[in-house]
Amino acid sequence: MSYLEATQDLYKEAALTPDVGLCCTTNPIWQFPGLSIPKIMQEMNYGCGSTVSAQDLVNNPNILYVGVGGGMELLQFSYFSRQKGGVIGVDSVGEMLEASRKNFKIAEEENDWFNSEYVNLVKGDALNLPVEDESIDVAAQNCLFNIFKIEDLKKAVSEMYRVLKPYGRLVMSDPICEQPMSEELRNDDRLRALCLSGSIPLKDYIKVLTDAGFGTIEIRGKRSYRVLSPNHYPTDELIHIESIEIAAIKDPMPEDGPCVFTGKTAIYFGNEEYFDDKKGHVLQQNQPLAVCDKTAAALANASDEIYISESTYHYNGGGCC
Ligand SMILES: C[S@@+](CC[C@H](N)C(=O)[O-])C[C@H]1O[C@@H](n2cnc3c(N)ncnc32)[C@H](O)[C@@H]1O
Repeated sequence: MSYLEATQDLYKEAALTPDVGLCCTTNPIWQFPGLSIPKIMQEMNYGCGSTVSAQDLVNNPNILYVGVGGGMELLQFSYFSRQKGGVIGVDSVGEMLEASRKNFKIAEEENDWFNSEYVNLVKGDALNLPVEDESIDVAAQNCLFNIFKIEDLKKAVSEMYRVLKPYGRLVMSDPICEQPMSEELRNDDRLRALCLSGSIPLKDYIKVLTDAGFGTIEIRGKRSYRVLSPNHYPTDELIHIESIEIAAIKDPMPEDGPCVFTGKTAIYFGNEEYFDDKKGHVLQQNQPLAVCDKTAAALANASDEIYISESTYHYNGGGCC
């Protein structure tokens, strides 16, 4: 059995018998005014972090969500879109689609603004999305892509890129890991499916996105997620896994490479009123400007009167490019 089939089996079980232990969220569940999230959806929250941000959801976007789980984030997206078929949910596990369908019926009873028809559930594979080219404004996945081995991850990301409209956004939450893992861990299909042994370093994750063509990357959050300790897992040292929230925007690729925002800020502290790098960046004296890593490096070279902060991994827009 391939690791992809083992993953299907695990989530088939998790659909038939909800498993609170699989819940790996690393932030509180967003409760918006007038939104009631059914208990069963919370118990079937098999994601980490969140992919739902109001900032991405202006102008009635078409939303695609891949790997639906119990449907909680699709309900949260529907809260903003509130239109028939406004959210397309794709999952390769029929039992998971059926479970989420039932959960949406419960959500209808608890939320008078919600109609199950707001969500269009479709059986399909992240590696071959049943979605037309350039038809989606916001595509999301939470805790699915980390399970994929590198070639499949590239394929899944290229599928998201294909279906997004120009300037569309791919929003994701996934575990990452900066430490090496043993082959035994990497090749354990069950641990991989449980989102414990597939994660890769952040820079490799970003590279898959920029290689696919995404011109802008935003790291919006980074938190501790799990540890794999030698007394529980086949590892000689303690492995720390984090989770990230990340957006990849289908902007044209800049000639000098992608803009990757990791939460750096530039502050000019010279005697002039402002500093102008003549490349589109004007820093008012002692005013913070959120900058991508590329601009941060260029500004650091351009003047010794500019303070560049460390990455906070908490970028929420408004930056230099
Ligand atoms: C870790 S769960 C995450 C569920 C949901 N995103 C959440 O945050 O609760 C992974 C989801 O992806 C689905 N899945 C697994 N392999 C898939 C594939 N190849 N294509 C699409 N969905 C898949 C599973 O059925 C499950 O719903």
